Amino acid sequence: MFQSEQKEAEELIHHYLEENGIPIPEAFQWGNVPFKGEWGISTSFFETAALEARSGKQINVPERAQEIAQDVSARLEKHRSFSRVEAVKGYLNLYFATGEFSRKVIAQVLEQRRDFGKGDPKGERVMVEFSQPNTHKAFHVGHLRSAILGDSICRIMDFAGYEVVRANYFGDIGLHVIKWLWNYMKYHAGEEPPQDTTRWMGDIYAEANQRLEENPDLESEVRELYARWDARDPEIVDLWQNTRQWSLDGFEDMYDTLNIHFDHLYANSQAEKPGQEMVKELIEEGIAEDLRPEDAVIVRIDELLGLEKEQYRVLVVLRSDGTALYATEDLALAKMKFTDYDLNKSIYVVDVRQQLHFQQVWKTLEIAGYEWAKRCEHLSYELVNLPGNVVMASRDGTVVLLEDLIREATARALEVVEEKNPSLRKQEKQNVAKTVGLGAIKYPLLARDNTKIVTFDWEKALDFNGQAAPYIQYAHVRANSILRRAWGLLPKAVTPPHELEPAEINLIERISQLPDDVGRAAEERKTLHITNTAYELARAFNKFYKQCPVLDAPPRVRKFRISLVVAARQAIANTLNLLGIEAPPVM
Ligand code: ARG
Repeated sequence: MFQSEQKEAEELIHHYLEENGIPIPEAFQWGNVPFKGEWGISTSFFETAALEARSGKQINVPERAQEIAQDVSARLEKHRSFSRVEAVKGYLNLYFATGEFSRKVIAQVLEQRRDFGKGDPKGERVMVEFSQPNTHKAFHVGHLRSAILGDSICRIMDFAGYEVVRANYFGDIGLHVIKWLWNYMKYHAGEEPPQDTTRWMGDIYAEANQRLEENPDLESEVRELYARWDARDPEIVDLWQNTRQWSLDGFEDMYDTLNIHFDHLYANSQAEKPGQEMVKELIEEGIAEDLRPEDAVIVRIDELLGLEKEQYRVLVVLRSDGTALYATEDLALAKMKFTDYDLNKSIYVVDVRQQLHFQQVWKTLEIAGYEWAKRCEHLSYELVNLPGNVVMASRDGTVVLLEDLIREATARALEVVEEKNPSLRKQEKQNVAKTVGLGAIKYPLLARDNTKIVTFDWEKALDFNGQAAPYIQYAHVRANSILRRAWGLLPKAVTPPHELEPAEINLIERISQLPDDVGRAAEERKTLHITNTAYELARAFNKFYKQCPVLDAPPRVRKFRISLVVAARQAIANTLNLLGIEAPPVM
């Protein structure tokens, strides 16, 4: 946040060290002084003192660090950027004048607007694969967490300065698809999907499972069909292509509703053949063992690594009949990603239950000599439980579909909006309800640590007074309504003419932290840092709103506070945007 002041201080430090023949460390680490009514930055001289000690001098490092801190602080005493400087136990603390700091924070937001909080370009390209629904099945809330989490991670990493490639990976082939085709050909031939395509696709799949369960003898027909697919029988390929498209069109509608978009679409089917080729190479290199025709092709990973303790176990890379497995395709997919894009990192947002699978696949690739395999990363997430603890499974058709969830969220949000703001026009109420409903679905999935189960709770998700999307959206609406009434007053960052109220200081403090929060969320791949920031910003704003009159304040105070409202609104909008949640203009 205070790069220029930091740089000035650092130059001065360099000067001092040079003059005194003290070795200069490669870089100084700067941090924020924990806020106690005063803002400041700090660094330490332990590394400097340690370098000096290493150069042969007899030195007590902590004492020497404090000595340097004292000398430097004496030099910085009169520097105009700092209201106070301090040398404590080897640390140098530089404090800002409160009014000046406030003006600078607001000035930065007003200047950067939508870009406030953005990190410097990192020159690193990262692919994030997320959502990954399966065609010929329903798009249910099980895949929703991946979609919402992945989208937000992309937004955060992009904002933090990474070049992000958003990828999807459709499960468009495999046993589930063949079962679907079998059921369709035998019992639904010629049927076209109704408007509710995705649900219908899911129903046919569920029905297939039911039939096979009732009559296991039919399995042989499914196997036969699989063989026809594997031989690329044109009739089957044709049907597969058409029906697959039905699913993809249905997904596209979902993504539009959710405001989620992709740069690159991969599909399992596309990785099948290249995967089989790679397995051939693995066999030739002696990495995979070919146990066909009796058994499958396997990689004994632990054995290859000489591990005594079981860790990676054995990965099956090809069926005994030569057909591709999920793992076969993932071998090829990983390679495709690095060939298509020169990636620094390849992140997979996938359910925690697939952890071993990915470790096996990537370790196998590493053994095969692909150096990029180490740059694959699993961002795992836990299940979502719906009220009544309905666990998602598409096999038996007892799933809650995304559409159901959105419909329910919107209906509930509409009730709240009707109560809160009965004078809105009907269409407007509908729009607001949709925005609030979607926010209510997204926020809890992002606010919960990805490694923990989310139990979805309508009351909590739609709480206007708690840690929930509507509360944050409502703060944004409040800021809007003040600014609408303040029109004509061009917001400009000014030094506050008054002694700041605690609520003002707190709000400014929150705003100033946004850039750091973004960096941290990106590095840790944790959306919850941003959901927290959004909530804390809204809370700080609401407190300010209740305690500090804006439009009725004396003119110069009013001017300052209006600029603070603009900055707060922007900070809230920017965090909501990182979460993929819209800010409605009214509520
Ligand atoms: N479609 C798979 C599923 O529904 C998830 C795919 C995850 N990505 C991958 N590269 N294997 O479980």
